[in-house]
Amino acid sequence: MDTMELIRTRKSVRTFDGRAVTDADREKLTQYLTTITNPYDIPVEFVLLDAKVHGLSSPVIQGEQLYITGKVPKGAHCAEAFGFSFEQLVLYAWSLGIGTTWIAGTMKREVFEREAGVLESELMPCVSPLGYPAQKRSIKELGMRTAIKADKRIKDEGLFFDGDLSAPLSTEDPLIRDALEAVRLAPSAVNKQPWRIVRRGNAYHFYEKHSISGGAWDVQKVDMGIALCHFMAIAGGRLSVADPGISAPQDTEYIATVTVEG
Ligand SMILES: Cc1cc2nc3c(=O)[nH]c(=O)nc-3n(C[C@H](O)[C@H](O)[C@H](O)COP(=O)(O)O)c2cc1C
Repeated sequence: MDTMELIRTRKSVRTFDGRAVTDADREKLTQYLTTITNPYDIPVEFVLLDAKVHGLSSPVIQGEQLYITGKVPKGAHCAEAFGFSFEQLVLYAWSLGIGTTWIAGTMKREVFEREAGVLESELMPCVSPLGYPAQKRSIKELGMRTAIKADKRIKDEGLFFDGDLSAPLSTEDPLIRDALEAVRLAPSAVNKQPWRIVRRGNAYHFYEKHSISGGAWDVQKVDMGIALCHFMAIAGGRLSVADPGISAPQDTEYIATVTVEG
């Protein structure tokens, strides 16, 4: 599968078949983790943890034997950088037939943080189970997907804009169309899809429409990192952070710009 196909076919997997990840797949994953970078140049450290050995579980996950956690130094853009890096792992795992679910909430955070050895100076935004999907989703998983409308996505006209945040974007460029579709299909916390993109010339300005409040840090910044990862995986480009000063509602925050080749 190419990257676009991986993005199109990936879904959160919460019901696993109980098999351990094979040694061969574990080796491939471990090797791949050493190659992951992000355009913020903020290091993300991954830690694989056997569920039984470390006493790890999640009330929404079934049949898993392995978890992966990631740690990032606290600081500006750390959540976006984390999202960007962790999503690469998610897509690579899927290329091996290994399912994942981003988990920020439905876990005993203190247990995962302890077992992953998270320092005071670090953030562990999310974890994920790793394993082979079961043939059928559990009733709990099906109910959850329905409750959060996990298969629905906002249409293009609500997400992608031309010049400012009011005019819908239309583009004939097949690469950009795929890159935008890759953003639209991305996973996000509670499937809120906070990403908004404004095109000006070759610059694609990414905005976060805040819709989850509370918490010590902003989980939707992780979503923004995922969106940037998907866009750049398809369209390439260069990431910069320089607010273009486009008029935006109070709940909509400038995050970053991707400039693609003309
Ligand atoms: C940053 C982030 C945090 C998430 N946290 C949780 C979580 O705590 N528990 C959970 O079951 N799913 C969680 N999800 C998964 C989303 O609910 C899921 O991606 C979304 O509903 C879309 O479904 P899909 O991934 O199958 O496309 C999270 C996703 C992201 C990106």
